[in-house]
Amino acid sequence: MEKKILFPQVSGFLHGGDYNPDQWLDRPDILEEDIRLMKKAGINSATLGVFSWAACEPTEGNFCFDWLEEIVERLYQNGIYTVLSTPSGARPAWLDAAYPEAMRVDARGLRDHHGNRHNHCMTSPKFREKVAAIDRELARRLGSHPGVILYHISNELSGECFCPLCAERFRKYLADKFDHDIEKLNKAWWTAFWSHHYNSFDQIEPPYANGEGSVLGLLLEWRRFTTWNMTDFLKFEKETLLGITPDMPVTTNFMRLFGGLDYRKMAPELDVISWDNYPAFHNDSESFADTMSETAFQHAVMRSMKRDKPFMMMESAPGLVNWQAVNKVKRPGVHRLACLHAIACGSDTVQYFQWRKGRGSCEQFHGAVVDHLGTDDTRVFREVAQVGEMLKAIAPVAGTCVNSQAALLFDWDNRWAIGDVRALADDTKKYEDTCLDFYRAFLKLGVDMDIVGSDEDLSRYGVVVAPMLYMLQPGTASNLKTFVERGGQLLATYLTGYVDSDQLCWLGGFPGDGLAGLFGVISEEIDSYYPSDRNGVRLFDGSVWEVRDYAEILRVKDAEVLGVYTGEFYQGTPALTCKSFGRGKAYYAAARSSASEMTPLFEKMLKEADIPVKKLPENVEYHVRSAGEEVYEFYLNCSEQPVVVSDIFGTEVQTGEELCGTLALPGYGGAVVRKTAV
Ligand code: GLA
Ligand code: ZN
Repeated sequence: MEKKILFPQVSGFLHGGDYNPDQWLDRPDILEEDIRLMKKAGINSATLGVFSWAACEPTEGNFCFDWLEEIVERLYQNGIYTVLSTPSGARPAWLDAAYPEAMRVDARGLRDHHGNRHNHCMTSPKFREKVAAIDRELARRLGSHPGVILYHISNELSGECFCPLCAERFRKYLADKFDHDIEKLNKAWWTAFWSHHYNSFDQIEPPYANGEGSVLGLLLEWRRFTTWNMTDFLKFEKETLLGITPDMPVTTNFMRLFGGLDYRKMAPELDVISWDNYPAFHNDSESFADTMSETAFQHAVMRSMKRDKPFMMMESAPGLVNWQAVNKVKRPGVHRLACLHAIACGSDTVQYFQWRKGRGSCEQFHGAVVDHLGTDDTRVFREVAQVGEMLKAIAPVAGTCVNSQAALLFDWDNRWAIGDVRALADDTKKYEDTCLDFYRAFLKLGVDMDIVGSDEDLSRYGVVVAPMLYMLQPGTASNLKTFVERGGQLLATYLTGYVDSDQLCWLGGFPGDGLAGLFGVISEEIDSYYPSDRNGVRLFDGSVWEVRDYAEILRVKDAEVLGVYTGEFYQGTPALTCKSFGRGKAYYAAARSSASEMTPLFEKMLKEADIPVKKLPENVEYHVRSAGEEVYEFYLNCSEQPVVVSDIFGTEVQTGEELCGTLALPGYGGAVVRKTAV
């Protein structure tokens, strides 16, 4: 595969972040100093315009872009490119006073007062009209400036609105979805239950907190609608901008595995995926290495939405944040490691929130490159400048991709459905944690999985793990079958294939939609455990995996039994099975065991798929980016202690050192090794 350069204007990586000069317009000395400091820190981009509505349109229809234009130009003259944001993330007071419909209504039907941010009604025609007006002006005034390289639409789109306009739009969305046939909806939502039958679409309300909460189909469709409506809003902003400057790429910044929106449905509207990364480093509930691998998982989610190009780390904290329960500063060296980590996982940008700390309001103590001291001799500034140097040194890596050969299936709909289902055990459903657990176990073997949806083309992978795939969308079962038939190694677990995409149970045995045939098993019961309950799975080599939380009781039709339960009334019955299907194998793990205990199984699957595993020292993360002949290996020491990694051959890209076997990494150190072609 060829290199995919995101921003040909800069050579290598984008290094920058949110810049809010509108907070300093009365301090030209500070703005002047900013440019000097940015150059010193190796900054080549600035994100301008986020939340700048009041500065760009102080009163309705009175546009003031001179200040912004001047700054974009001055940055450009100094080799700093602009990521240009639309200001729709926060509304000026005049707008809410004139058009209260722009303010969101909460789940109990109460309208917000003016204030805060990220809280507009995405349906409101008035709000859209005002957004379009300012976006058009923005694009006209700045969209053709050679310094502008990307549109950033709004900011961290999120949340739901229960106003009458949104309720009406929801009804229309449902009518379209169910072909204007209310009986189709009644059937899909099983409304004969509790007399919840609807006579017409007009009778349907959003799931208010004090309203309908028991029709699972309604709950799910509301979430799908909220994503659809938010995507429609995103599209609306995008089309407004591209109507003036059709060639500018667009993005919007996502937030980790945010539960409120199905990011995969939004991704096709974007030219590049970007996200905001704020790990709670040095917390007291997990090791530093676990914080890192959790972050790698989040990076992988983002990367996998556009698998063949790099993504952007749009925000990260140069120092600390101000909104975590404990806002601990990053220990020396951790900033560099975290930035290299983002690159290792496939990002082509290192961007911060924010460049300079403001003096007031609720983010005044949030970390920034330049703090209230205002100088360049702080630890944080020096570390940022070191990252600037590092990014220059590893510039040839930009445009390469992480080409994973293994994937983990993760579906937003599935996640929502598992959250809503009234079954299992309230506190231990843990779908996301379970996915992370599997991802981590593979990462420890040096395999950085993609995280893909169940409708994704799986042909590029040799191994696919599909944990807790409770909901089967149309096409999921045949996708999995094709994958295995063609030689793939598939692992599914307890809770696979219980419901269809309307949350109706499959009849005739779980896993439904024909998957019982693929795995050769039927799950007859699922036992939920109390937190202290334990069981085990005995494998035929004598080893035992501990079981907690969930255990399914299986009927095996035509699969090989690889492990049996050690306890309970179902002792001795199958708990791990494998069926050969076509050229591949379909494994079924009927109980929850920790992924680290299951690692020998993963090694077997990887071996059969010809995917190499790596022997890594404890706490060292390994990632690979490549394009054509160029292969870059990343070794990241996710601990304070120095470590020596062996079996490394190639050239360390930053130092030029030739490595012939071993690499010594200091605490929090990281290396990029260009592999020598063999
Ligand atoms: C988010 C926002 C930023 C800022 C940071 C603080 O990511 O997009 O505007 O509030 O959080 O961490
Ligand atoms: Zn609304």
